[in-house]
Amino acid sequence: MAMAKALAGIIGWPVSHSLSPRLHNYWLSHHKIEGEYVRLAVEPKDLPAAIRDLKAKGLRGANLTIPHKEAAMSLLDEIDEEARIIGAVNTIVVEKDGRLRGTNTDAYGFMANIAPHLPRPRNKAVVLGAGGAARAVCHGLRKCGFGEIVVLNRTQPRAGELSAWFGGALRVEPWLERDRALEGADLLVNTTSLGMTGKEALSINVKMLPAHALVTDIVYAPLETPLLKDAKAFGYAAVDGLGMLLHQAVPAFEAWFGIRPDVTDELRHYVLEGG
Ligand code: ATR
Repeated sequence: MAMAKALAGIIGWPVSHSLSPRLHNYWLSHHKIEGEYVRLAVEPKDLPAAIRDLKAKGLRGANLTIPHKEAAMSLLDEIDEEARIIGAVNTIVVEKDGRLRGTNTDAYGFMANIAPHLPRPRNKAVVLGAGGAARAVCHGLRKCGFGEIVVLNRTQPRAGELSAWFGGALRVEPWLERDRALEGADLLVNTTSLGMTGKEALSINVKMLPAHALVTDIVYAPLETPLLKDAKAFGYAAVDGLGMLLHQAVPAFEAWFGIRPDVTDELRHYVLEGG
């Protein structure tokens, strides 16, 4: 009897731009797994049905992207600690008994991407932005020991809400003070959409950072944002956002298909060719 094809997919609206199919299908083929990772274009009103139908359609799980990550929280049988702390689900696993488990691999992906480049000391981090991505980033930073996390957001009350989410553990400073906030910081993270293709560049004086600081952007289109270009020009270590996308996919692939895949240069190039 032929084995059923191993399936997983990404649920989003829109979902056509996602690089995840290219990424997971590369690993499936690399590991000679008879399977496919598909795009599932699902409008918000249809999300409950789409999640309910995962098992019936033979999927082992799914990723969630815009705008479903938070809405999925109330639609699953179990939410693990990572997803609870971040307040969003980016990965659903259909367990052997059919239960649907929600997890979130974004904080892991963010940290795994910068881990080889993290400076010493690592006390103070400056995070720009206060959306869902910032929540995952701040969780990752707290987990790996950054004791002083400063958040700045154009709409300051949102930064306040982000800090409150973590029990007031983050320091909020005004968006207009972002140059000064860089003093003494070991890490700068941009989680805003500034610098993305078609958007204005982030305006900030990176030279205010100490020489050992690392600069990273979660934007990956373009790969080298004006912020990263600036940082490199002034001699700072800089890490692009594509690696976060690649690394967040590792635990998801492992949960669905039973093999922990590697993030390699060849994978990076392959995914970029499809972008
Ligand atoms: P995500 O979930 O990916 O973080 P989001 O919730 O839309 O997406 O957040 C986008 C971030 O980019 C927000 O921090 C947003 O700031 P506001 O909260 O003030 O909207 C930030 N952002 C977007 N455009 C910006 C701009 N022109 N200047 C400054 N910040 C901007």
